[in-house]
Amino acid sequence: MKVLVIGTGYVGMNTGVVLAYLGNQVTCLDVNEEKIALLKQGKTPVYEPHLEETLQLVLNNIRFTSSYAEADIPNTDVVFITVGTPSLPDGNADLRYVRQAAESIAENLGEKFTVIVNKSTVPIGSGNWVEAIMHEHFNSNHNNGEHEDFNVVSSPEFLAQGSAMHDSFYPDRIVVGSHCERSVEHLQELFAPILRQDFPAPPGLPRPEGLTEVPLLVCDLTSAEMIKYAANAFLALKISYVNEIGRLANKVGADIQAVSKGIGLDKRIGNRFLNAGLGWGGSCFGKDTAALIATARDYRLEMPIIESARAINYGQRVLAVDLLQEKLKILKGKHIALLGFSFKPNTDDLRDAPAIDISKLLIQRGALVRAHDPVALSNARSQYKDLGVVFCDEVGEALKDAEAIMLVTEWPEYRALDWKAIPRVPIVDGRNYLDREMLEGLGFSVIGIGR
Ligand SMILES: NC(=O)c1ccc[n+]([C@@H]2O[C@H](COP(=O)([O-])OP(=O)(O)OC[C@H]3O[C@@H](n4cnc5c(N)ncnc54)[C@H](O)[C@@H]3O)[C@@H](O)[C@H]2O)c1
Repeated sequence: MKVLVIGTGYVGMNTGVVLAYLGNQVTCLDVNEEKIALLKQGKTPVYEPHLEETLQLVLNNIRFTSSYAEADIPNTDVVFITVGTPSLPDGNADLRYVRQAAESIAENLGEKFTVIVNKSTVPIGSGNWVEAIMHEHFNSNHNNGEHEDFNVVSSPEFLAQGSAMHDSFYPDRIVVGSHCERSVEHLQELFAPILRQDFPAPPGLPRPEGLTEVPLLVCDLTSAEMIKYAANAFLALKISYVNEIGRLANKVGADIQAVSKGIGLDKRIGNRFLNAGLGWGGSCFGKDTAALIATARDYRLEMPIIESARAINYGQRVLAVDLLQEKLKILKGKHIALLGFSFKPNTDDLRDAPAIDISKLLIQRGALVRAHDPVALSNARSQYKDLGVVFCDEVGEALKDAEAIMLVTEWPEYRALDWKAIPRVPIVDGRNYLDREMLEGLGFSVIGIGR
């Protein structure tokens, strides 16, 4: 099929490369010309494991452009909208990029039936809004008698950064929200190799054992949009739940690691998203929980569970700094090494990263912060140059003369550091990730979260 993907961020790049790998002719379009220039050289604008390698395999099936006119929309079967939907100050999602994309698609549509798939996370009810915008723009740009033949459906994206390629080839489910049979048939055909799991696994991305098919859930558009928010909010509150239990564990002398394990072995609960620590960050959970609360507000409803999950999450960042302060007593003038800056391992994404709030708090309390990250330093230097943090290319540079260490992101290389060679300063392990027994054996004092 002929596919156009609008937006070459984390979601768009994965969608485009996966669909090209499955044999479709894919065009990826982004208004950011720098990103398109990079892609034309075979380089990806975002860091995601296996993305660049898989891109090299599909160069014959994929092309890149920053121009809607050159995207050949009249001959395209399926257009994916994957542009950003960041938070506005009141928690609502900022839909300006979705609007711009919808207008540009409508201006360039031809007579062939085209399915417009909204993969951006948009507030419940936005699919209808996108369709309305498109009708408006189609009519004002096609006064030569052409008939409208497009349909907007919702197919929310559930990938997790850091394992996005794996999640896109082997998703737990695909959700399609549409009342239009023709659109559903188009998407069933497009997603068939994923639904049937009959494509050869790409190098480095083996198919999970036992995976023979992926369920497709077809529902109405509003329900599809709601599934995305409800799923993200549930995962977010699972993390906050374990962090709340962790706060009590700390008081009563229990170890949250053992408690989590004991809870997670219950198959009804499951062990994922039950790690106590600095909580969630990233572009989705914070923004999507805020948007869900804002949508409820429009209907004069409150969402107390989700509001509490947010409060606990952002409180964990303060808690980690308080724990360090309690240990050092005085933070003023102290050199603190932060290990990890991205919001989680295997990504260079800094959106809502705990490291940012933690750095601000430490600096406010007078500490001197040096930070290292294996892949996010160039983003950190360009986006946070005024934060007051010294970004270090080598982890040794961040650790030099440090009077305390805080592990913020659980990159495997921090666990594998030559700890014997590092001076025995206090460590706050914000992810309960380091080998505590080994470190204590070496003479480090290790402060975990909820332990
Ligand atoms: N990142 C994730 O893990 C994830 C997971 C699931 C869902 N989502 C949702 O998917 C959407 C995209 O997220 P992302 O992380 O990929 O965003 P991103 O910011 O990485 O990428 C968005 C891209 O869209 C481009 N863009 C903006 N306006 C455009 C326009 N009018 N035409 C063409 N390109 C345009 C931007 O230049 C940018 O490159 C968001 O709604 C997000 O909530 C993200």
